[in-house]
Amino acid sequence: MKLDKRLLVCAEMTEGSFVCDIGTDHGYLPAYLLRSEKCTKAIAADIGEKPLAAAKATFENEGIEGGQLILSDGLKNIPLDGVTDIVIAGMGGELISKIIDADERSRTCGANFILQPMTRASVLRRYLADNGFEVTEERAVWDGEFAYSVMKCRYTGVTYEISDVREQTGLTDASYEDGRKYIEKQLERMKKAADGMRNSRPAEAEKIDMTMEKIRKEKGI
Ligand SMILES: C[S@@+](CC[C@H](N)C(=O)[O-])C[C@H]1O[C@@H](n2cnc3c(N)ncnc32)[C@H](O)[C@@H]1O
Repeated sequence: MKLDKRLLVCAEMTEGSFVCDIGTDHGYLPAYLLRSEKCTKAIAADIGEKPLAAAKATFENEGIEGGQLILSDGLKNIPLDGVTDIVIAGMGGELISKIIDADERSRTCGANFILQPMTRASVLRRYLADNGFEVTEERAVWDGEFAYSVMKCRYTGVTYEISDVREQTGLTDASYEDGRKYIEKQLERMKKAADGMRNSRPAEAEKIDMTMEKIRKEKGI
């Protein structure tokens, strides 16, 4: 089976043999990982009955063994013993932060987290920094229309400062095409936001302008 580029990067970032996919929807990611034998056990979890039924159908169609389906709000009903990787993809950055924050085991289970926010990646980056999750890798994905960022992180308990530039663009850089495109998209989005507040909140617009300038300089765009 084939995955789209975004989920493929999520799959590539998994490290171990037991992957838990929170908000799995059709269950494509765990099905792919089991099918390609990148992992031997996988949990496909979702808050909705319908997505979980779709994931069940995917597993059946693909003849998947080793897959477990769990109805769960975030990590709530997930037994995390032995789970090596937790993937939370395709949701907003705020919701991803909330899901991680809601369960103390995020900080004790030792799993590798693979996070892919659809919106508000900056909120997630700030959350991770303020709460001691070290981002060890971040990769941008351009799928022809949208730009995404996939982050790999792990709890260390050591909080750290992040600059405005890092908050907006993370560890992505312009050394590869998708990275450049991701940064350009972020700049476009920021310009729109700044232009929208230029008359009503000029000081905030100017702050965004300054961050954009720093991004261009630091990332060589
Ligand atoms: C847009 S889909 C993303 C599917 C897949 N992860 C991907 O990236 O393509 C978002 C899924 O997250 C599920 N979801 C939303 N909030 C959730 C929560 N609190 N806990 C678990 N799943 C949730 C939704 O039901 C939906 O199936």
